[in-house]
Amino acid sequence: MLDLIVRGGTVVTASETFRADIGVTDEKISHIAAAGSLDGLVGDTTKVIEAEGKYVMPGLIEPHMHVKAPFSNTIDMLDFYTASKCAAFGGVTSFMDFSTTTKDTPVLKAVEERIGEMAEGALDYSVHAKFITAGNDPDELRNTVKTLVEKGVPTFKMFTIYPGVMIQDADILRIMEVAKEEGALCGFHAESNDIAQFMTQKLVSEGKTGWEYFNQAKPNACEAEAVNRILTFAGLLDAPVYFYHLSAKESVNLVREAKKRGVRVQAETCGHYLTLTEANNKGVDGINYLMSPPLRSEEDRKAMWEGIKDGTLSLVTSDNEVFSRKIKEKDLEIDGDTGEKIPCFTTPVNGIPGLEERFGLLMIGVNNGDISLNKLVEVGSTNPAKVFGCYPQKGCLAVGSDADLIVVDPEKNVPLVRENLHYPDELDYNLYEGFVSRGWPVCTVRRGEVLVENGEFKGKRNSGRLLRRRLKR
Ligand code: URP
Ligand code: ZN
Repeated sequence: MLDLIVRGGTVVTASETFRADIGVTDEKISHIAAAGSLDGLVGDTTKVIEAEGKYVMPGLIEPHMHVKAPFSNTIDMLDFYTASKCAAFGGVTSFMDFSTTTKDTPVLKAVEERIGEMAEGALDYSVHAKFITAGNDPDELRNTVKTLVEKGVPTFKMFTIYPGVMIQDADILRIMEVAKEEGALCGFHAESNDIAQFMTQKLVSEGKTGWEYFNQAKPNACEAEAVNRILTFAGLLDAPVYFYHLSAKESVNLVREAKKRGVRVQAETCGHYLTLTEANNKGVDGINYLMSPPLRSEEDRKAMWEGIKDGTLSLVTSDNEVFSRKIKEKDLEIDGDTGEKIPCFTTPVNGIPGLEERFGLLMIGVNNGDISLNKLVEVGSTNPAKVFGCYPQKGCLAVGSDADLIVVDPEKNVPLVRENLHYPDELDYNLYEGFVSRGWPVCTVRRGEVLVENGEFKGKRNSGRLLRRRLKR
């Protein structure tokens, strides 16, 4: 007898759309068969989800989020259980975060710590290892990389900006070479520290400190320079590389051209770069829209959709890091005369929510005719699983795969505002006022267990499982 049947839905994968029943046994998809043909396997204990008139898709995978991440002398608002709840309501069934590597907490220790923290959630989970140095001992570096690969943590992140976590170019090259040899993938937050520092000083000296200037402090060239540099390193070493959160049209062009030259590069953009622009940084609420890289022009926004359509960008992620406005404003100076807070883009912590909105932001692309539903599945689930080494266990609906799926009601309209989302009440602003997703996940299933149904979160604390990932070489 089946443990679970999802009956009569329209199955949407990255490549196909067809009507079928899905049967689940022991956490795995055991049957995908013509609608109605599995009824003989339905017993007293079988959980039945009626999906007639609905889409059934693989659960989304969120490979880029920051939870419990110390940043700019503060920390974001979520814990991994709350994050798993928000994520599950937004159709996510697995997520990945980053180790908080510091001078005093080396990579392996930081990875272990993060794995321990993530265990409190209800989603399956994994960690990317953050490197801030290659160290002085080549053998130790190799052992570290080998250990990470053996542990199922074969994906790394490095920052080309932010003194403190920023890594030197020579160290990037050393890590890239070892990673290539040991079957790991180096990923980058690519922004030029020098350009950002130079532009910030210039703008501040001119008294241009309002929120709308943030984008000029980190212009398109700030991202493109670092992307170009990393692509040069990747070409030199014939090493695979990944870019987190691309936002500038120049970067997409650089990746497109590099792919043509045979550079082994994969890249993502985020939901906010597909839907918001620098216009959102204007006015008193501009502070809410500070994230790095910054929001850009309408032309850049359209270039992100083009990048997705032609496959230059293969993932759409959230880069979720939730701060209340109160936290964002905490270090602002107060005007002695008016008592008002003085806008200054150098002060607030960067980062925005997005874990729960990601499906909706992609769905808006589907509703607008920018992408197909299959493409939504590809960039939100299948490619994250492939790029980060957990396919076909995750990221697809296939016999033998984990039964991670969502049932989407195509008629359910959800405005992407706080009252429809599940972030803590202290999150005191909306980013996506006026954005409505036509189509929304009404049921989320992780390894055959229902996490969300009838608007209720049923996921249990500590029920997620650590993913052991391995990259195809
Ligand atoms: O502003 C952002 N994106 N905050 C999260 C940390 C990062 O830069 O990825
Ligand atoms: Zn980043």
